[in-house]
Amino acid sequence: MALELSRPDLVVAILGAGTMGRGIAQVCAQAGLTTLLFDSRDGAVKDAIALIEKGLEGQVSKGRMTASARQAVLDRLKPIRAVDEAKGAGIAIEAIVEDLRAKRELFRELEKHLAPDAVLATNTSSLSVTAIAAGCARPERVGGLHFFNPPPLMRLVEVIGGLRSDPTMVEALVGFVKRINKHPIVAADTPGFVVNHAGRAYGPEALRIVAQGIASPREVDLLMKEAAGFRMGPFELLDLVGGDVTHAVMVSIFEQYFGEPMYQPSAQMAVRVAGGLLGRKSKQGFYNYDGPPTTSPPTNAVQTQPLPISVWIAEEDGGRELAGWLNAAGVKAQLGGKPAAEGPCFVTPLGEDASNAAVRLGLDPARTLAVDMLGGFAGRRTLMKTPLTKAEIIGEAVAALSAGNVPVTVINDSPGFVVQRLLAMIVNIGTHIAELRIAAPSDIDTAVELGLNYPKGPLALGDALGVARVLAVLDGMHAVTLDPKYRATPWLRRRARLGVSLRTLD
Ligand SMILES: NC(=O)c1ccc[n+]([C@@H]2O[C@H](COP(=O)([O-])OP(=O)(O)OC[C@H]3O[C@@H](n4cnc5c(N)ncnc54)[C@H](O)[C@@H]3O)[C@@H](O)[C@H]2O)c1
Repeated sequence: MALELSRPDLVVAILGAGTMGRGIAQVCAQAGLTTLLFDSRDGAVKDAIALIEKGLEGQVSKGRMTASARQAVLDRLKPIRAVDEAKGAGIAIEAIVEDLRAKRELFRELEKHLAPDAVLATNTSSLSVTAIAAGCARPERVGGLHFFNPPPLMRLVEVIGGLRSDPTMVEALVGFVKRINKHPIVAADTPGFVVNHAGRAYGPEALRIVAQGIASPREVDLLMKEAAGFRMGPFELLDLVGGDVTHAVMVSIFEQYFGEPMYQPSAQMAVRVAGGLLGRKSKQGFYNYDGPPTTSPPTNAVQTQPLPISVWIAEEDGGRELAGWLNAAGVKAQLGGKPAAEGPCFVTPLGEDASNAAVRLGLDPARTLAVDMLGGFAGRRTLMKTPLTKAEIIGEAVAALSAGNVPVTVINDSPGFVVQRLLAMIVNIGTHIAELRIAAPSDIDTAVELGLNYPKGPLALGDALGVARVLAVLDGMHAVTLDPKYRATPWLRRRARLGVSLRTLD
C-alpha cells in the first residue's frame, strides 16, 4: 500500500473540533492545506472557527501575520456536517472524546468513505493506537499523531505506528508532521508514548516528598526552579494542568504497566481530587487562586548572622567543592580531620539521608546537616537536618550556607534531599523508556524538552549530572527505603559502570 501524504493538493479532515481539534485544524490550514472540520455537536465547528479567527486576529494586531494571510487561513478551513463529506481527504486526524468505542466507531465510519490509501490518525493520549486500529477493516493505514496543547504553540508531535501499521506509515506521518511545520519524534505504541510516560517522575515524586513531610509544596517548587532550573515547580504544574487530569494519567499509566512501582500514583492526590482541590480551574489546589496569590515565605531565607562561622565538612564527594566555596565566601570551613568540639558538621551525601550519614561517619547527629551538592552552587541551596539537629546549629548552618545572600531551604531528613530525588527519578524513567525501545535516545530528550519544557531531556540530564552519581542517588534511596520504585534500570546501571553516556546504544 502506498501512503502518499506529500501531494501538493492533500486535503486534511479533522474530526472533533474541541480544544485539540481546532488547534490542529489551525496548524494544518496555516501550513497551506485545505482542512475539513467536523464535530458531532451542533455549533461546535462554528464555535471552533470563531475561536481560531479570534486567535489569528490577535496575531494580525501584534504584526505577526498580515490580514490577507489570516483570511487565506480562514478560507482553507471548511466546516463539514457529516463524516461522508470527508471523502476527499488523504489524511483524517481524529481528536474526539477519549473513548475506545467512540474512536473505533468513527474510524469504521471513515473507512467507508475515504479512499483506500488515505491515512487515519488518532490524537489519543492514553489509548493504544493498535487497539483503535483493531476495530478497522484495514488496520495497516491507522497511526497515531499525538499533538500537545495548545497545538499552534507546541512544536512537538509524537508519531506512533500501531503493531499492524503499514511499514511506510511512520515515515509518511513524519513527513506530514514536518510539512505542517512541527517537530516529529517517533514513539512505539506503549502507554503514554514518550512524553506522558516521561512526565511520571516530576509530579508523583514531588507529591511523595510532601506526603512524607520533608518539605512543603512551595519549598519544593522554589528548589526545582531556583536550584534545578525548571521553569515551573511540580505543584505549580499540577495546579495548572488540573489535579483530576494529572491523577487520571498517573492511574492510567500505572495500571497499563500492571502496577510497576516506578509509576505509583499518589494516594494523597486521590483525596484532593475527590475533594475538588483541582488547581486553577477550581480556584484551589496546592495554591489558592481565589483572591490574592499565596505569598507566604518559605520556612527560611537568607540569614544575616555575622561571619566568620566555623563549620566542619566531611571529606566525601562534594565536600572539597563545598569547603572551597564556603572559604571563599568568608566562612571558616575545615575539610576532614577531627571535627571541632562545637559548630555544624556538614555532610554531602548522594541518595543517603543526614541521619544515616552521621551514624556512618561517627558524627554527632545533633550537630549534623547535609548539603545537596548534586547541582553545584548555581542557585538556592538545600540543607537537610536529622531529627536531632539542634536549632542553634541549624541557624549557624543556614548563616554559613547563605553567605553571599544566597537563599537556603531547610528540609527534613530524606534520602536524596528534594532535588536529587526528583532529578534521579526523571533520569531513571528516561532510561526505562530507552530500555523499552519506546523511542531513540535523542528523540526521548527532544520529546521531553519540547513536550514538557524541562531544561534538558532525561538522558542529557543524567549525562550532565554524572551517570555514576545518579546511580549512587538511586542506589542510596533504594538502600534506605527498600522501595522497589527506586531501583535503577539496567540501562542506567550498565552505562554508569562503563562510564559512558546514557545515550549510548546497545
Ligand atoms: N486536551 C489536551 O491537552 C490533549 C492533549 C493531547 C491529546 N488529547 C487527546 O485529544 C482528544 C480530544 O481532546 P480534547 O481535549 O480536544 O477534547 P474536547 O472535549 O475539548 O473536544 C472533543 C470534541 O469532540 C467532539 N466529539 C465527541 N465525540 C465525537 C464523535 N463521535 N464524532 C465527532 N466529534 C465528536 C466533542 O463534541 C468535542 O467538541 C482526546 O483523545 C484527548 O485524549 C488531548
